[in-house]
Amino acid sequence: MAVGIEGISFYTPGYSLDMVDLANARGEEPDKFTIGIGQSVQTVIPNFEDVVTMGVNAASKLLKSDADRAAVEMLLFASESGVDNSKSGAMFAKDQLGLRDSIRAIEMKQACYAGTFALMQAKDFVTLHPDKKVLVIASDIARYGLKTPGEVTQGGGAVAMLISTDPKVAVINDDSVYESKDEKDFWRPIDSDIALVDGHLSTDIYKEMFMDLWNAYKKNTGLHLPDFKGFAFHLPYTKMGKKALEQILDEVTSTKQAYFMEQLAASQFYNRYVGNLYTGSVYLSLMSLLKEAKGYQAGDRVGVFSFGSGAEAELFSLTLTQGYEDVLAEQDVQGMLDARMKLSVTEYEKVFESQKLDSSDDSETEGVALAAEGKLAAGQCYFAGWKDHYRLYKTAK
Ligand code: CAA
Repeated sequence: MAVGIEGISFYTPGYSLDMVDLANARGEEPDKFTIGIGQSVQTVIPNFEDVVTMGVNAASKLLKSDADRAAVEMLLFASESGVDNSKSGAMFAKDQLGLRDSIRAIEMKQACYAGTFALMQAKDFVTLHPDKKVLVIASDIARYGLKTPGEVTQGGGAVAMLISTDPKVAVINDDSVYESKDEKDFWRPIDSDIALVDGHLSTDIYKEMFMDLWNAYKKNTGLHLPDFKGFAFHLPYTKMGKKALEQILDEVTSTKQAYFMEQLAASQFYNRYVGNLYTGSVYLSLMSLLKEAKGYQAGDRVGVFSFGSGAEAELFSLTLTQGYEDVLAEQDVQGMLDARMKLSVTEYEKVFESQKLDSSDDSETEGVALAAEGKLAAGQCYFAGWKDHYRLYKTAK
């Protein structure tokens, strides 16, 4: 019985910042950001969006009918930028999505890796319960602070995936290799809204874990690089995927090396215009690869390398299924990216500092006025503000 991804969708908020503008404002060479780091644009998160709204706005694209909603037996919400220290983002999202009460709903965290853990839990659950479906949401905001080295690698968004025995996109193969190591490269203390990071150490750990897992994968499966059509990588910034892939390119001919660099460019395309979205990043890279790469067909094997600082990583493969491109075509990611409003650096800094982090602040977010003016899309979930220290979510009419 084949278990895999029936549907996949992406959402990112409607504001963006050009990395050339950011480089100029910070006194950096634009080429450092666009070539050295490999980021061209990043999504800017307004104060009426958070991991719940983004997750709901991604998942609602997959759940179009009452029957779709009724079929979901479990909601797994992966995030490292959750909205509450106790209550799961899944609980807020469940009601906003109109899911029934008789489901399991939970949040899981391990930096950028948790989305993959959720995916594997979903696969195992559906394998045991073939008539059921699991909704996986991977939603995050990458926030390092103004004028920090990490600023160029900010961003945010959510990827939602429906896992079932009707894998219209890809079968999740039973070939995972994984590794967990206690590392001090990236963390966010409970009293901080920004991540603390040793970016260079993190990069080294990412590269090392990729090699550990690649070698283990080859040993376990007997498969080699030419057995893959392409790879999706966790992309905190797009150069990271290149650093990982270049370590194994000498295993193939120069013609094949050029081929894999082309696949890498396809897998980086969307991420280059969104920035980091932590847990969702590797699955946005997957969507990018499946949409941008040429000549893929049902039966092709695609590798997925998931990494979360701190640190945990997993490498596995997907086998594409008939008609996967139709599912991807339904998601107009490019249209969503193009429709974002471009902000100046001054506007971005204002939005960055306007987040409603104080739960005693009862003032409304900008989303309330925008919804009243009809400037939010009908059906869009937004954070309206705090009431008695509780988060209020609404849906635009
Ligand atoms: N033209 C072209 N390239 C240039 C250039 C120019 N004018 N100037 C510099 N560069 C290149 C550098 O040579 C370097 O390339 P290599 O990495 O290939 O050597 C690249 O630009 C970056 O330069 P620096 O290393 O000097 O940049 P930095 O010190 O400002 O740090 C960073 C970069 C570590 C990514 C930093 O932005 C950061 O800390 N980001 C946040 C953390 C992060 O993303 N870590 C990555 C792995 S962690 C992870 O995966 C989990 C997660 O999601 C966070």
